[in-house]
Amino acid sequence: MNGWNGRRVVVAGGAGFIGRHLTRALVAAGADVAVVDDLSTGRDMGLAPLTVADVTSLDRLPIAAEVVFNLACPASPRAYQADPVQTWKTSVLGTMRLAELALAAGARIVQASTSEVYGDPLLHPQTEDYPGNVALTGPRACYDEGKRAAEVLLYDMARMAGLDVRVARVFNTYGPGMALGDGRALPAFIEAARAGEPLRLEGGGAQTRSFCHVSDMVRGLMALALCDAAAAMPVNLGNPDERTIREAAETVVRLTGSRSPLVEVAPAANDPRRRCPDITRARSLLGWEPVVGFEAGLRSMLDD
Ligand SMILES: NC(=O)c1ccc[n+]([C@@H]2O[C@H](COP(=O)([O-])OP(=O)(O)OC[C@H]3O[C@@H](n4cnc5c(N)ncnc54)[C@H](O)[C@@H]3O)[C@@H](O)[C@H]2O)c1
Repeated sequence: MNGWNGRRVVVAGGAGFIGRHLTRALVAAGADVAVVDDLSTGRDMGLAPLTVADVTSLDRLPIAAEVVFNLACPASPRAYQADPVQTWKTSVLGTMRLAELALAAGARIVQASTSEVYGDPLLHPQTEDYPGNVALTGPRACYDEGKRAAEVLLYDMARMAGLDVRVARVFNTYGPGMALGDGRALPAFIEAARAGEPLRLEGGGAQTRSFCHVSDMVRGLMALALCDAAAAMPVNLGNPDERTIREAAETVVRLTGSRSPLVEVAPAANDPRRRCPDITRARSLLGWEPVVGFEAGLRSMLDD
């Protein structure tokens, strides 16, 4: 596959944060895009025709797709823990349904998996071969294990039925259009800094994250979708620029000119201590790496 011009693409979860940026970029590249979304955490911005549906019970693809992106799944811990059974269903049964429909249509499916498949990693930075350290019964398991099961399913369907699969292991992504109030660190920090309220550092803020700007992520997802060499292996997409949550909060305070203090609060259950992608595979297979620095990326959120 090469190029997006004229290509028929379904974006499941296309009304969500990353999905809206992806849909906009695909449309700009000339693709014929249709969105499927239940609008549980997303909102319709009219970027492409929308079918409002739950992917777990989708009866057909809205267009004869050549590529199906599966981003349908709440991503913030607050959203995915609100109804863990629905999160698991969406991850596993929703992926299965989309994979069946993609297979029947002869389409490629591109799965937005997650760095959470590595759990609280003992290997650092995380390579795709690392099997992970996930708490099976914790409050994050519906999401982490749901995404792991979805990968298992997709690769089994690839082996058994010839499903054409690409799997992106998406690391923390941020940028304009993130939902405020959904509990994710950067929007929460920005909201607090702007309101002059304390920025809450769960567990003290020494845990690290690697924040990837959504424009870099979208470029990576689109490159992965077109890459024939990336079949049969997951690819980490994320920014290897690792920083502590405390440093991120301090940067938000500085860039907003806020006088908000940082306060330490109790840790969230099973919060990973370190998070940083090894992107050797993405660099070599896709020629991809992030280009937006953290401060420039934060400014794009502040301007939003
Ligand atoms: N944002 C990140 O940092 C991040 C990190 C790792 C992985 N991911 C993955 O990327 C994808 C998109 O994340 P996001 O940040 O845009 O999240 P988001 O919550 O903003 O978007 C998810 C979208 O999926 C829709 N959705 C949820 N359940 C659905 C269902 N059953 N049927 C149809 N639509 C449904 C929601 O309404 C929403 O529009 C998710 O699969 C997520 O797991 C995101």
